[in-house]
Order: sequence, then C-alpha cells, then structure tokens
Amino acid sequence: MSQTILVFDSGIGGLSVLAEIRKLLPESHYCYLFDNARLPYGELDEQELVAGCVTLIVELVTRTNAAIVVVACNTASTVVLPALRAKLNIPVVGVVPAIKPAALISKSKRIGLLATPGTVKRHYTHELIGQFADDCHVELFGCSELVWMAEQKVATGALDMHRLTDLLAPVVAANIDVLVLGCTHFPMIRSELQQVLGSNVTLLDSGEAIAKRVVSLLAPASRNNENQNTTGKLTMRAYYTKAEISEGLATTLVGCGFSTIERITTSN
Ligand code: DGL
Repeated sequence: MSQTILVFDSGIGGLSVLAEIRKLLPESHYCYLFDNARLPYGELDEQELVAGCVTLIVELVTRTNAAIVVVACNTASTVVLPALRAKLNIPVVGVVPAIKPAALISKSKRIGLLATPGTVKRHYTHELIGQFADDCHVELFGCSELVWMAEQKVATGALDMHRLTDLLAPVVAANIDVLVLGCTHFPMIRSELQQVLGSNVTLLDSGEAIAKRVVSLLAPASRNNENQNTTGKLTMRAYYTKAEISEGLATTLVGCGFSTIERITTSN
C-alpha cells in the first residue's frame, strides 16, 4: 500500500523538493502543506517560527496519517527539527544547504550561500560552514525579496529581471564560482538566477539529496514499485493557511497534479 509523504514549506518553495521526490517515488501519495499566512519565514522570530510549524505539521500528520514529513524549507529546518521530532513518531527529514558539495567542487575556493535572512544568521548554518567549508571563503547573502519574486513568478509567470539584477549585484561582485541555493524557493527561479550570474557560477541546491534521503527512510514496500498497490488511486493534496490563494497559484497547483487544494486552520 502506498504511503503518504507530507512536504512542508512556507510557500511554493517546497514544490521544488516535492518534484525531486516524485521523480524517485512516483507511486506515493503526496500532501503539500504551505504556511503562506506567515510567509516569509526568513523574517520570523525563532520561537514564533518553531511553535507555528510544530502545531501545523502535527495537525496535518494526524489528519493524513503521513508516513514521513519533509520540512522542505531551509529556514524552518535550521530550528524546528528537534521540537518536531519530539512530537512525532515518524521520520522527519529537513533540508540542509548544499555547503559540503559546493566546497568540494569549488575550484577558486570562493563560494556563496544565497538564503533567507533567517538562515544566514543561524548558528546551524555557521556550524555547517565551519564543518564542511573550512578551506573556503564563504560569502553569505540573505534576501527575502527573492522569496517574494519566486512566489510572484509561480503565481503570474512574470519576473522583474532588472530588479533581480540589482538584488544579485553583491553576488556578482563577490567573484565566487559556486552559489548554494539555500532556500527552496530559489530553484523555482534558477534559470533567471543563472542568466544574471552567468555560466561561470555553478548553482547548487539540495533537492535531489533530500529525495534520496526520503527513499532511504521509507519502508521497503513503499520504495519498491512492484510492491505498490497500483489499484488504489494516488492522491495529491495541497493545504494552505492564508484566507485565500491567487488564481495563478491554484492553476500551478492543479498543473502539478494536486486534486485537492484547501485551506487548513489549526485549533491553536
Ligand atoms: N522556502 C524557504 C526556505 O527554504 C523559506 C522562505 C521564507 O518563507 O522566507 O528557506
């Protein structure tokens, strides 16, 4: 019997991770939970971030009987994982910025991390850099406006390339050869980022690595397609927290295969 994989983010960013997981596990049920009422997480106070995420995720795990939770948000992953694991008895996978592979492939040993202001200031991130990129010069760029631009692109199809060029000016000036996309929203605007930064800068995210981790943690029956219950209908459900979502976003979600798209409210 197929298991339900719950993927969580503040907005559309986690869809970039969900897409990678679906490539490896096309026969699973998916539940996508996004807390767009509190977006952007990169600006939220740590305590508020943890409490809200835990309440919401635990509620949806109960409702959907999910087998695994993927916190497809770097900002939330820097702080909520211990509290969430303490409340759930299923595997909880977080996202880690791809600092380690970036340090390994960098020739100039000058790398960058493009993430939210929350992620770049957290101890978790600085520890990761100390552990895996000790031999590199690492430039940190925290930017919430890029999160909004990715949301906007998904909702309307449009992205202001002039504004993007302005926002990326410090990244260009840093003269790096690898840029870690340490926010799951950024792979959604990967081609635009690459266009501004040029082909000499390699962009790395951790979507594929997270997908492999999910496969390794799920029960064997759910990993092996031949053992799947293919007679059952596979479900794709999306839940959001804001009062409403734009027509463009709803269309994107339908295009991704979601057949249920509804608002979720929690009791506290
Ligand atoms: N997608 C998110 C991340 O990976 C969070 C963006 C935000 O809400 O600030 O960090």
